[in-house]
Amino acid sequence: MTRKGIILAGGAGTRLSPLTKAVSKQLMPIYDKPMIYYPLSTLMSFGINEILIICTPYHIDSFKSLLGNGKQWGIRIDYKSQPNPEGIAQAFILGEEFLDDSNVALILGDNLFYGNNFENDLNDANKDKDCATVFAYPVSDPTRYGIIYFDEKTNDVIDIVEKPKNPKSNYAMTGLYFYDNKVINYAKSLKPSDRDELEITDINKIYLKENNLKVKLLGRGMAWLDTGTFDSLQEAGTFIRTLERRQGLKIGSPEETAWKSGFINNKQLKNLALEMSKSTYGDYLLNLLK
Ligand code: G1P
Repeated sequence: MTRKGIILAGGAGTRLSPLTKAVSKQLMPIYDKPMIYYPLSTLMSFGINEILIICTPYHIDSFKSLLGNGKQWGIRIDYKSQPNPEGIAQAFILGEEFLDDSNVALILGDNLFYGNNFENDLNDANKDKDCATVFAYPVSDPTRYGIIYFDEKTNDVIDIVEKPKNPKSNYAMTGLYFYDNKVINYAKSLKPSDRDELEITDINKIYLKENNLKVKLLGRGMAWLDTGTFDSLQEAGTFIRTLERRQGLKIGSPEETAWKSGFINNKQLKNLALEMSKSTYGDYLLNLLK
């Protein structure tokens, strides 16, 4: 069973206005790359090579001029517009034709993951065929997220609550979700929530009820970064800059990921590098070949 990827990059980004007045939030720079490069590289890192980008109709051309049809990275990128921000779960309805009978990995276009063991977690989740796999991460502000409640004795997941007023746990659901193909029908069965959205939490609750939800805990040493406010946007950039400068290695480079995943060969990587020869980003790619 193949698995395809969806990056949801919709929304008006109003919390970042005026930054987002002319530019999509997911195209904002995180240090040396546009934000969407990070989730895109995450999907590519475990072998996903067919990806649908869902964004607002106003931004679709900007995404296309940045990412094209994906051929340069040995993948295929399709686009679909989401006219109104009607919820994360709407992605599966908008993506129905693209997904066909495939399984799916959905990642939010503003989510950055970085961690040592994360690639293993991703490869494991990718192997699961008939279930959902999601990732939980401890946060200091649980009222802002979908929060997972565990049974105190058995540690089994007992509930998921979207933005609880009085959270009973600090484990947030991150913006990366693996589902089987049933998710399309589950999404169609949902009713909009009080905030008028098709909630991803409601999808996960269906899988939980069916006893088919795997929750992986991401612990210490793993970074899941938010980019929703001016400060968190800046902090994410600083975080990436610190690691990249210290290690001399890039995080979230689709060119490097494509090359490592075998989607492109040395010659193709070299050509991509030469296109950016005036930028240190191009130098970095050239150096990979040495
Ligand atoms: C959404 C989901 C929430 C999840 C979060 C991750 O929140 O509804 O369950 O924890 O993404 O970023 P929203 O961005 O809609 O506030």
